[in-house]
Amino acid sequence: MNILVTGGAGYIGSHTCVELLEKGYGVVVVDNFCNSSAESLKRVEKITGKSTALYEGDIRDGALLDRIFTEHKIDWVIHFAGLKAVGESCAKPVEYYDNNLNGTLVLLQAMRKHGCKKIVFSSSATVYGTPEKLPLDELCATGGTTNPYGTSKYFQEIMLTDVYKADDEWTVVLLRYFNPVGAHESGLIGEDPKGIPNNLTPYIAKVAIGELKEVGVFGNDYPTHDGTGVRDYIHVVDLAKGHVAAIDRIAKSGVYTYNLGTGIGYSVLDVIHAFEKACGHALPVSIKPRRAGDIAACYADASKAKNELGWEAKLGIDDMCGSLWNWQTRNPNGYKK
Ligand code: NAD
Ligand code: UFG
Repeated sequence: MNILVTGGAGYIGSHTCVELLEKGYGVVVVDNFCNSSAESLKRVEKITGKSTALYEGDIRDGALLDRIFTEHKIDWVIHFAGLKAVGESCAKPVEYYDNNLNGTLVLLQAMRKHGCKKIVFSSSATVYGTPEKLPLDELCATGGTTNPYGTSKYFQEIMLTDVYKADDEWTVVLLRYFNPVGAHESGLIGEDPKGIPNNLTPYIAKVAIGELKEVGVFGNDYPTHDGTGVRDYIHVVDLAKGHVAAIDRIAKSGVYTYNLGTGIGYSVLDVIHAFEKACGHALPVSIKPRRAGDIAACYADASKAKNELGWEAKLGIDDMCGSLWNWQTRNPNGYKK
């Protein structure tokens, strides 16, 4: 069975390629490398001893997609390609909506044309906006997103659902990721953010290695156990396996929505302390004002994925921090030589 992985050179995509190849799937990747490089896929080959068919280009290029679907019989698409920086999306809404919405539309047109009607989509817990209750289950209201990135995820979920409503031969799987962190145990692939990281764990890793001065904690007056923001961090390898579980298990057409998280919420200080254990030294920390747009707490009820897909997260916070530290120390400059 062949899987087209859009954005397969990226952080979550590369880890998913490893899991797919190890399970014997044929993997075709399309990526324009706007936030990645071909090096990650070379590392994927090193880990698995298998190769992917790589097409360098943009998913908004319909002719390129046409060529890919003509040259390969694609059974499923896993759609990771998209822009994902919350702050940047507020400054560049046109670019974000163009890339994320237009990209998905061009992809859907190519899939329809070539009779491929099975798609797994990278959605996000951000579609829940401010949580109406915790833990969040899949029936919680969506919408109320506060930035173009989040809104683009919400719109894409609606677009994909409408595609199924118009043609019930489609299988649409919406995977709502909580906070993906960590790296493959080999230390060969991991997250390689450009510039100063926005997300907590890559920022901590750069402080731990001495590249950044201190970890800024964005607010310590939230109604949480220690006053700092609580999130559901999920190991990227567990997350990658969730995609394979969806493809392996879902046999009937329909729209399927799953939270992919651990169900456990850790605070910013909990994560910093776990990372200190992983790297073996204390980290300089400074309390800063709250970051605009942040919510106090967000964690999943992940029982639906367990019951229906037979998938659950196996790796804990120590594995997440340990694997990130391994990746950071082996690749202080990420994929750059
Ligand atoms: P990433 O930036 O590492 O990967 C995305 C990949 O898509 C990159 O390789 C990029 O070069 C490629 N890409 C972007 N636009 C493209 C286009 N128009 N054509 C071809 N390739 C294109 O990000 P990631 O963390 O691996 O995220 C993957 C997906 O998961 C994204 O859709 C993201 O929004 C979603 N997601 C990520 C998180 C997270 O915290 N990392 C959380 C929830 C959802
Ligand atoms: N934080 C700090 N200091 C930092 C960075 C973050 O204290 O330097 C705090 C934040 O305030 C928050 C927590 O750490 O309480 C996690 O923040 P991240 O930026 O790592 O992650 P978010 O929960 O804000 O958002 C992430 C992705 C979104 C995605 C969302 C849900 O960035 O794209 O998870 O999946 F939508």
